[in-house]
This record gives sequence, structure tokens and C-alpha cells, in this order.
Amino acid sequence: MKLRPDLAEIPVYIPGKRLDDALKLSSNEVPQSPLPAAIQAMADAAAGVNRYPDMGVVAVREALAEYLALTPEHIAVGVGSSALCLQLAQITSGPGDEIVFPWRSFEAYPIFTKIAGATPVQVPLDEHHRLDLPAIAAAVTDKTRLIFICNPNNPTGTTITEADFIEFMHQVPSDVVVALDEAYFEYIRDEQSPIATKLVHQFDNLVGLRTFSKAFGLAGTRIGYAFGNPDLMVALNKVGIPFGVNAVAQAGALASLEHIDELLARTDEVVEQRIRAAAHIGAVPSESNFIWYPCDDAPARTQALLDNGVIIRGFPDGIRITITTKEETDRLLEVWDSLY
Ligand SMILES: Cc1ncc(COP(=O)(O)O)c(C=O)c1O
Repeated sequence: MKLRPDLAEIPVYIPGKRLDDALKLSSNEVPQSPLPAAIQAMADAAAGVNRYPDMGVVAVREALAEYLALTPEHIAVGVGSSALCLQLAQITSGPGDEIVFPWRSFEAYPIFTKIAGATPVQVPLDEHHRLDLPAIAAAVTDKTRLIFICNPNNPTGTTITEADFIEFMHQVPSDVVVALDEAYFEYIRDEQSPIATKLVHQFDNLVGLRTFSKAFGLAGTRIGYAFGNPDLMVALNKVGIPFGVNAVAQAGALASLEHIDELLARTDEVVEQRIRAAAHIGAVPSESNFIWYPCDDAPARTQALLDNGVIIRGFPDGIRITITTKEETDRLLEVWDSLY
């Protein structure tokens, strides 16, 4: 077959494992169903899927504009924020160009970079599992077209400070797009952390990324959004699949935004449990809905937990455990204590 010769170099995305009856703590999802109003809205929308969805995603963009204190022109909606990460790579980069990101970080960054035909430049985290912003700035060359900054970082859960991020933005050439990936924004409690909705007014090359998959509990519908410079939003939409954001997802997102206080209230339990779980097992303190436990026996730990009905995410250099409710954390820690 005449496939792209560079396809063999594109890593395969490995989803979190699925297993009936197991405690699934591998994909940073919430365990609760969507809110009743969102379920109803999605059921109503399902009855109309003989029609294409609203391609402009107007109602959701208008509701988001109000929530984020932006205008609808500052917002682009995509098939999960994953799609928007890929679209950012596509609008900025091609063969010969470089996309810079921290590492270890969201596994999809190198995949999207390669799909765009660009070259990944991975900048190691510092010894505290934090993004090393000066090193990322230093990795920028004439070939750099896009930088991903993941805050909190997946999988380590650490955040950067607004002051450090602003200093970083001043070091980056103003024509290089910086994506501040805030997929887990709703779980941040550190007030020093940057907030993309505020900073996009200061930096024309800054794009914020958020999602309905995590705190909003709509991972299965695939809807996320980017915000920033309206010209960049137009460019992002050019490379999106027409009608990609389906009608059920749009209805679910809209209803969820109408009941946002209930969803945000749920994050408090996660915050309480992540502090408890991180202290209990000795994980890195987290600002997200997962904790990172660096270790050199990650495959063995992943398997041992799986054998005991707990699915977590193993990486070569550590394990990432999604944190959810008190009940699920009780079960996790009980299994952990029985093993370690
Ligand atoms: C840092 C980060 N960014 C983006 C995403 C993409 O989320 P989605 O495509 O579900 O919006 C994820 C999902 O795990 C993530 O961890």
C-alpha cells in the first residue's frame, strides 16, 4: 500500500484499559453520570440526529463566551480538545518545523506533531516533576512553530506560576503560537497558577485549551474548546472536520454550562481525595484529578493493582492514578495498603 512513509514513526495512542467491575482510575474521567439536565438535553438531541449539527456550534460558543468573559469569535469548538491540539499542529506546522513541549506530558502531543509531519522537541521536566519553562524557552529555534504548555501537567499534576509563565511568554517570539492546555483547569486550587482566559488578552499568540471531558463529565461525547486570537480561531476551524462536533455533544455541553455550579462543586471532593491519596501513598502533590507516583517498577505495580481490580495508568517512569470520590479512594487505598 502507498501509505505515508513516516507513518511507522507515529506512536499509537494507548487508551486507558477497560474491564467490567474494576475500579477504572486510568483515564482521568469522573465516575458520575452527566447531570440529569444534560442527559435529558442529549436524549432530546439524539431524536434529531437525522439532521447535521450546527456547524458553527453557535449556542455553545455564546454560552462559553459568557462563562469565559470572551466573545464567540474568540472561541473555537472541537471534537474534544484533542482535535484542537491536532488542529493547532496542522495550522502552524509541517515537515521541517518543530513543535516544542515538556516531557513527560500528554501522550498525544508527539502523536499530533508527527501527524502534522513536524518534528517533536521534548524538554525534560525538572526534578520536581514540573515544567521547566526556562528550558522550554531555550529550546525554541527558528524552526519552532508551536509550543504546548500543559497546566496542570498530565501525568504529573504539577502547575506553573502565572509570573513564570508571563516571563516565559516574553521570551518566546511573538509569532510562535503557544497553547496553554488547561484540560484540568477546574481542579486547580493554587491561586498562583496562570489563567489562560485572562492572559489571551495580553498575548496574541496564546491559545487556551479546555474540555468538557473531565470536570464536565462528557468524555464520551467528545467536545472541547480553544480560545484566543479570533484569527487563530478561524484558522483552527479551517482544518476541522465539517460538522465534527455532533448535536448530542453540543446539547450536553450547553445544558452542563447552564448547571456549571453543580459540576464545579463536585471538584471539591476530588481535591480533598487527591490530598489524602497523595499523602497516603507518597505521590507528587497534585493540582489535578490524578496523582503521579514516580517509580522504577511501574509495570509491576500497574499489573499488581490490575490483578486486584484497580486499573491505573502505567508509564515507564511512574504510575498515574485518577482521583475521584471518597468511596473509590477508600477502595484504592485499601488495595494499595494490601500490596505495599
Ligand atoms: C492534557 C490533556 N489535554 C487534552 C486532553 C484531551 O481531552 P479531550 O480530547 O477529551 O478533550 C487530555 C485528555 O486526557 C489531556 O490530558
